[in-house]
Amino acid sequence: MKDYLNKLRKDYSMMGMDEKDVDKDGIVQFEKWMVDAANAEVNEPNAMVLSTVDKNNHPHSRIVLLRDVSSKGFVFYTNYESDKGHEIEHQSMVALNFFWVELERQVRIEGIAEKISQVESNEYYASRPRENQLSAWASPQSKVVGSRAELEALWRETEMKWKDQIEIERPPFWGGYIVKASMIEFWQGRAGRLHDRIRYRLEKDAWAIERLGP
Ligand SMILES: Cc1cc2nc3c(=O)[nH]c(=O)nc-3n(C[C@H](O)[C@H](O)[C@H](O)COP(=O)(O)O)c2cc1C
Repeated sequence: MKDYLNKLRKDYSMMGMDEKDVDKDGIVQFEKWMVDAANAEVNEPNAMVLSTVDKNNHPHSRIVLLRDVSSKGFVFYTNYESDKGHEIEHQSMVALNFFWVELERQVRIEGIAEKISQVESNEYYASRPRENQLSAWASPQSKVVGSRAELEALWRETEMKWKDQIEIERPPFWGGYIVKASMIEFWQGRAGRLHDRIRYRLEKDAWAIERLGP
């Protein structure tokens, strides 16, 4: 395995990134890169690693899907009673990470996560396919489940419960978080590991832009 891993050596050469060409607003720059990812047909461009810290200061990472981005922040949806939900309640400072291999790009984001309004969560929940809505009710996210059969039984029970309702209510324990970014770093792979790193730090209301050593 070590031989195989040590021989993996990809050189990045697609493009560069210069301070003078980037937008002065970190979120606008992110939106530009998201458009590039969509145009390049990057696989699941909205999949991002979310890292949180628990009350023992242990870090935890997992993928969630970005569902909105605006000047207010980065939105994803989850179960508020999941491990990540409890961790965010304990420590609202979180990190997000995108890796768009097809474009040799990484974006790192750090900021405070807050619950979005119930109205906004309702709106997004209502737009989901019915079976996903049922799964949000049925799944005890992050809890131990005895077997696949037990999980499917929970789902069928939920389906029965809602079978006469055209609209399914959003579970009160499920909804969105918005990450209000205070740092966004854009990484563009370059030849010979001399990559470009441009970091945006929010200072009062403006973004300070700096280049970092790779
Ligand atoms: C591609 C992909 C997308 C995912 N999207 C979400 C998501 O949007 N929300 C979510 O709660 N979990 C999502 N998950 C599952 C999480 O990675 C994780 O397993 C789950 O949220 C439980 O995490 P926790 O126990 O740390 O709270 C996704 C997983 C993958 C691989």
